[in-house]
Amino acid sequence: MNYEEAKKKLDEAGQSHVLKYWDSLNDNEKESLLAQIESTDFAVIERSYKAHKENVKDNRVISPIQAMKLPEIEENRESFYKTGLDAIKNGKVGAVLLAGGMGTRLGANGPKGVYDIGVTHPIYIFERIVSNLMDVTSAADTPIHLFIMTSDKNHETTVSFFNEHNFFGYDSNYVHFFKQDMAVATDTEGKVYMDSKFHIADSPNGNGGWFISMINAGLLDIIDKDGIEYLNVFAVDNVLQRIADPLFIGAMLERGVSCGAKVVKKSAPDEKVGVMCLKDKAPSVVEYYELTEELMNTLDESGERAYNYGVILNYTFKTDILKEISSANLPWHVVEKKIPYINEDGNLISPETPNGYKYETLILDMVEMFDSCIPFEVVRNREFAPIKNKTGVDSIESARELLKENGVEL
Ligand code: UTP
Repeated sequence: MNYEEAKKKLDEAGQSHVLKYWDSLNDNEKESLLAQIESTDFAVIERSYKAHKENVKDNRVISPIQAMKLPEIEENRESFYKTGLDAIKNGKVGAVLLAGGMGTRLGANGPKGVYDIGVTHPIYIFERIVSNLMDVTSAADTPIHLFIMTSDKNHETTVSFFNEHNFFGYDSNYVHFFKQDMAVATDTEGKVYMDSKFHIADSPNGNGGWFISMINAGLLDIIDKDGIEYLNVFAVDNVLQRIADPLFIGAMLERGVSCGAKVVKKSAPDEKVGVMCLKDKAPSVVEYYELTEELMNTLDESGERAYNYGVILNYTFKTDILKEISSANLPWHVVEKKIPYINEDGNLISPETPNGYKYETLILDMVEMFDSCIPFEVVRNREFAPIKNKTGVDSIESARELLKENGVEL
């Protein structure tokens, strides 16, 4: 893309200010800015911004979905486990670690996975994840493919970290890193921020684009060649989660569903977690802020709260369906954030309070693209220890307590 083309694209998008410093840039800076302008879809940003401002509501009808609860899982434990483990042994299952996030709440200043949560000796978050996965690969006596999503902001550090630590004992031939895309950030008027004279402020575009990014990175070849039929996708920050859990995979296989979501019973009706439900009869996740007081307190026929099972960002998807829907458009979410930007004098300002919007797609919106989904209940204290904050709820402290409770030496 040359200057004229870039100018035309920006003028049409109402973002002409991006070229404000053009005359003061050197050749490399000009080239880098043109490349960013070329790869940016300003139309998506504009549409999402408008929808956000107009407060466009989701009018689909929400109704309860039946979860597979602990007693049913217990009754079928042996059979589910065997079915799931056989699938893993036969190479039908892959794992996808979502590690492209910024970890801003934790103030991680780098990949969250390199954070040391140990007390008497170092224990890195990535190490816990690999160790959890190896519980299963040891039982199956075979490694499975582990795909790790990073972003421009943390790719090199993540890859070097795994290399420095010898992949924490995992077979590195089975580990594949891929980068997610970035999305530009705007002010509250929908104008993109610049964070240098030749760069539009951007951040990872949410965890929804993971499969498209895998395809773009050429990883479909491995899925096809090795016959991977299920992908278990999970967040980096839950240090207790079971990965490629044979019980979970076995339940999906035996019930013949194309999607599974691990869920925990909510700690309170208004806990801030997405909840499994049906939207217009399709399995879906309703965000906590969409759950009205009335829905929150609705009871099912057994007297239990009808919207009582929160997702913990651990999903399993069937790959043949993923391939069909990979080009489908996920909705964009507009999130208020603190966005560093350069002021009139070209100085970088780091705001203390939110000053604009980031644009993201979310994995939870993929659930409704599958015709069948099992919300699969797990015991909260056994499988859910997310690290989002430095202290308090969902923090390093709370995760350490839960790890200790589960016999992990810190
Ligand atoms: P969170 O929503 O907790 O976001 O991510 P975050 O970026 O890690 O943390 P904050 O909000 O800035 O404090 C949930 C999971 O999704 C991944 C994260 O790495 C984490 O595993 N994620 C999030 C991505 O892979 N890419 C993204 O763009 C966002």
